[in-house]
Amino acid sequence: MSVSQSAVHLVDHLGRDHLHQALEHDVRTGLTSTPKWLPPKWFYDEAGSELFSRITRLPEYYPTRRELAILRRHSLDIATRSGADTLVELGSGTSEKTVLLLDALSATGTLRVYTPVDVDAATLADAAHWLAWRYRGLTVRAICADFEAHLALLPRTGRRLVAFLGGTVGNLAPAAREVFLKELRATLRPGDTFLLGADLVKDTDRLVAAYDDGSGVTAAFNRNVLHVINRELGADFDPDAFEHVALYDARHEWIEMRLRASRAMRVRIPDLGLRASFVAGEEMRTEISAKFRPEGLRRELLTAGFGTTRQYIDPTGDFVLLLAHP
Ligand code: AVJ
Repeated sequence: MSVSQSAVHLVDHLGRDHLHQALEHDVRTGLTSTPKWLPPKWFYDEAGSELFSRITRLPEYYPTRRELAILRRHSLDIATRSGADTLVELGSGTSEKTVLLLDALSATGTLRVYTPVDVDAATLADAAHWLAWRYRGLTVRAICADFEAHLALLPRTGRRLVAFLGGTVGNLAPAAREVFLKELRATLRPGDTFLLGADLVKDTDRLVAAYDDGSGVTAAFNRNVLHVINRELGADFDPDAFEHVALYDARHEWIEMRLRASRAMRVRIPDLGLRASFVAGEEMRTEISAKFRPEGLRRELLTAGFGTTRQYIDPTGDFVLLLAHP
């Protein structure tokens, strides 16, 4: 193979089976808890990833556009400061925003390897092939995994820029976030860098509108977790019998998405030998999306053991990117 040719490796040794077991565990835990809850990572099968892509284009959903604006303006600076030859992206999805970082790392001449990490194998594979085609000479090592559980799978070689974009860090509750940031910090060596995107605290109406859009795309995305559980675990949820709920918890400074049972229901999940009953109006939490204050998030990075952190805020003050050095 000539050096100018790209290569795609799809790493799935902790792929489908492992993810399936994790789904079983999460559904059993969540549906036997009071109140019931489900973790947001199970939104993202192929249909869910597509729905999320549609969310990023909604007029109400500002975070993606704000983060793009920051990347357009500062990706060269970020690339230069990182000096990375290996870009690792946690929760990479369609990798749409990643091209700005890959362009910048190409322009500065250091880029060799891109490692997207995502729970959705189909979207991951598409993105991997698209990017290998777009960047001649780039090695794409895609890892189908849950970034929270499998930090140990990240590439051990090269000078790495680990990117965790989109505000997905907000899906982690404070305690889980602390553990995650500490574990991530522990995998980094001098010369590596960590780029973290986070949505900022703002006017409640704009926050809620971003998670409760007028065209119902977010509602469909929310219900998609029930379609995933039906397909993967043989359950008989009636997704249309659940209403989409989005509210802002001002005390915790996070958005909460819930599914509300519009009537009393019994649901069977045969693969788990489990039955779940819902009373009319019962709400099940499906996601938290924490909103941050820049100084608070910088303090969390310090607590996790990171050293200096550079901050890039978009002109409207909606979103922040932090570039942290270990
Ligand atoms: C992909 C986790 C960043 O929390 O804003 C979008 C997911 N949920 N609309 C977010 C989401 C509802 C999104 N993240």
